[in-house]
Amino acid sequence: MKRIGILTAGGDTPALNATIYGAVQRANASNVEVYGFQRGYAGLLDPRAPHVHLNPLFTTIPELDPCKGGTLLGSSRTYIDRDSGELLCTAERHLRQLKIDGLVCIGGDGTINGMQPIAEFIPCTLAPKTIDNDLGLNYIDEPNEWLRRPIDQHPGYREEHVVSRDTIRLEDIINYATPGYATAVYVVAQCVERIRTTAESHRRVAIVEVMGRQSGYIALGSAYGQPDIILIPEVPLNLDQLEAKVRQIYELQQHVVICVGEGVKDNDGQELGATAPTFDPAGNIRYSGAADALQKMLAKRLGDEMFLENRSFEPASSALFTRKIGHTQRGGRPIQFDRFYASQLGGKAVDLLLSGASNEVATIQYESEHGFTLCSVRANKLRDQWGEIHPREVHPSMYDTRRMHLSSFGMEYLKPIFTNAIGWDDMEFCRTQMFGPGNLTNRYQSVVTDIRKRIRYL
Ligand code: F6P
Repeated sequence: MKRIGILTAGGDTPALNATIYGAVQRANASNVEVYGFQRGYAGLLDPRAPHVHLNPLFTTIPELDPCKGGTLLGSSRTYIDRDSGELLCTAERHLRQLKIDGLVCIGGDGTINGMQPIAEFIPCTLAPKTIDNDLGLNYIDEPNEWLRRPIDQHPGYREEHVVSRDTIRLEDIINYATPGYATAVYVVAQCVERIRTTAESHRRVAIVEVMGRQSGYIALGSAYGQPDIILIPEVPLNLDQLEAKVRQIYELQQHVVICVGEGVKDNDGQELGATAPTFDPAGNIRYSGAADALQKMLAKRLGDEMFLENRSFEPASSALFTRKIGHTQRGGRPIQFDRFYASQLGGKAVDLLLSGASNEVATIQYESEHGFTLCSVRANKLRDQWGEIHPREVHPSMYDTRRMHLSSFGMEYLKPIFTNAIGWDDMEFCRTQMFGPGNLTNRYQSVVTDIRKRIRYL
């Protein structure tokens, strides 16, 4: 291969530039040119196919900074599917005109779906990313456990995951962690810790909502910030149990911190935060407020009395407060774990292409003796029998339903990722950059402006 393309698709993460960097460095070592497409698959479809030569003379351009969050290539949730004939032809024509021999796609499940039809005419590999940590499997045969059940008097079907294993080993997990997850958890844990002292001072109940869609990995990782209760989407909400738990904890310490995953569901499978669901362009549900819904439910159940009895003279409606951490989870400088493994996975995706693989996903695997190693899995292994890729769920053994918190196996799962996840330079960056006097005098220098000077068109 002489020239490969690279693109970033789907929601961004702090580790995307690090992945691109790892891929370009590996290509440099093999004298392969790398063209980066702008705005994910949308760039491939654009009539002028805007692209950037990322390694002239096999040297990585200086704008590509692995320590900077986001992606210098831009991203979009535009996907190509196998039935979009005309669009697919456009993408193929552009790739051929630019003499691209292989394509590295950086993304999650939607990106794999977009990559699959392209892999029919050009080799493609995927370097995973998603803050949700939901690209992967708890064990290799997990996709076969998905069933489709008919719905009474309805043409559609209901999907059901019949989990066959009560326990798993860390070594069984396919793609242990996705770049972006560690930084998101770092932000969340800090936020929970900060919310704590204000809830504590005002004797309030704080409900902190974190991202992750249907997957509770970010909520699980919030355990590092020591919330009192963690609610994950995989376990239907038991309101009676939650009320009892909140009362018990409030009685003890006169404040409570709850961390809730945005996709949390009630007993009927209805998402609390999506009572009137809206969808993004990729067909994903946009969550609109699980924490707010929970606040209303709890305020009704606890009533003003609980707070009055404890000599806090606030009504329940303000003694219970919500904070949605939102997009800060996806932004900013990636912490060391993400930087390192993102660049390794970018390099692995290039290696896979150069070794002749296609429709293959670079992964990281865990071994208790050796720690993390690089590996790969065929994209189709992630699909169920109908070809669908499901977001990886928190395995039941990682969550203690009775405590509404992390289980001891959940702790075992988190430790290899987080114990040394922060580098000294991450802290030094904060110490020297946050209040650097230059921040007051200089405007923000956007990579969008810098990279525009390098964009070429067909
Ligand atoms: O999938 C990543 C993610 O950050 C989810 O956790 C979140 O629900 C969603 O993207 C938000 O997407 P958008 O930025 O398009 O609103």
